[in-house]
Amino acid sequence: MAALLADDRAIVERILTHIDRNTTDLSAGIWREPVDHYISQPRFSAEIERVLRLSPTPFCPSAALPEVGSYVAREAALTPIVAIRGHDGVVRAFRNVCRHRGVQLVDGSGCKPALTCRYHAWTYGLDGRLRGIPDAHGFPGLDKTKYGLVPVRTLEAHGLVFVTQDEPEIPNAEISALPDLFGADWRLYTTTAQEVAANWKIVAEGFLEGYHIRSTHAETFYPRQYDNLNVVEAFGRNSRVSFPYRRIEKLRAIPAAERTAAGMLTYVYHLFPNVMLATFPTNVIMTVLEPKAADRTRLVTYTLSNMAGHQEGRTAIAQGRDFVAAGAVEDRDMACAAQRGLGARANDAFTFGLFEGAIRHFHQNLEAVLGPDRGRGARVELAPTPC
Ligand code: FES
Ligand SMILES: [Fe+2]
Repeated sequence: MAALLADDRAIVERILTHIDRNTTDLSAGIWREPVDHYISQPRFSAEIERVLRLSPTPFCPSAALPEVGSYVAREAALTPIVAIRGHDGVVRAFRNVCRHRGVQLVDGSGCKPALTCRYHAWTYGLDGRLRGIPDAHGFPGLDKTKYGLVPVRTLEAHGLVFVTQDEPEIPNAEISALPDLFGADWRLYTTTAQEVAANWKIVAEGFLEGYHIRSTHAETFYPRQYDNLNVVEAFGRNSRVSFPYRRIEKLRAIPAAERTAAGMLTYVYHLFPNVMLATFPTNVIMTVLEPKAADRTRLVTYTLSNMAGHQEGRTAIAQGRDFVAAGAVEDRDMACAAQRGLGARANDAFTFGLFEGAIRHFHQNLEAVLGPDRGRGARVELAPTPC
């Protein structure tokens, strides 16, 4: 299924043709998405329960768990989850909750030989088994084998750790369609997080089209990139949008067979439903859009690189990341502005045009997963929230 994505040479060819013709990829039709889908509480709950908890969702990069005992803990679909690498090298994920009286076990990331609860110090092994209870005679007859951490389905593939909370199996076919973006020498450079006062789908949409480059990113991305010139591909429920840099024109002087896309464009991979992987000359940025409420999203951003081993590389990574961060601020402003506009009742639906085909693909797949009722329910009015 990975072959559904064109190779670099074909992508470069399509981009150069678009430059010559002043065109871009077009989708098969426009898409109208009801604004209720961004503000309704029943719809939000349906997305959490039927999409985000049932889909195999990338939880973190493998590089965030480099050694035995490395862990990453955060919420996924409103559920505290911890992923941790065991003594056998396997990554397992659990509901991040003590089996005694339910205290969340760990926060953030780090490395531990075992997980010990802060409240009464019950201790769990890296495999989730309950190993120790202080003053265990206070729990006569308690079968420790029944009090291990509650696991969630976990799969490590393509340099990513996937979790599926409420499904008995992770459908592997979907994951095997993904490309390999990270070699063994890729390391986690930084992890950052921030909240945005917008629905998670509005934030996602901002990654998936280049129609706004000139007007939103006039002084950041536009001087280096084309406006509204993209190649859009779908693979399974996922998509990939290519954003070419102006310097790609230099490739015209190179025979087609020798061209590569490295340093000439950004690929944005949308891994359904809520993860974006964006490639840059010095790094790859993985952004998890974690829905917190119908009008609030937490963005967790992992920056990875294979150049962090020397000072020159670290400087280049930091410069590239700062450049992208400046554009990302502009995208978040637009997401918040769109969210504030939802309550104005000017639109019954958002209209996505032919340039916004990756967003159409996203909504078509959401609709397919949610089923015929699409999580419809009573409209909930939300007060505008300042960003
Ligand atoms: S709640 Fe964790 S040990 Fe008591
Ligand atoms: Fe943008």
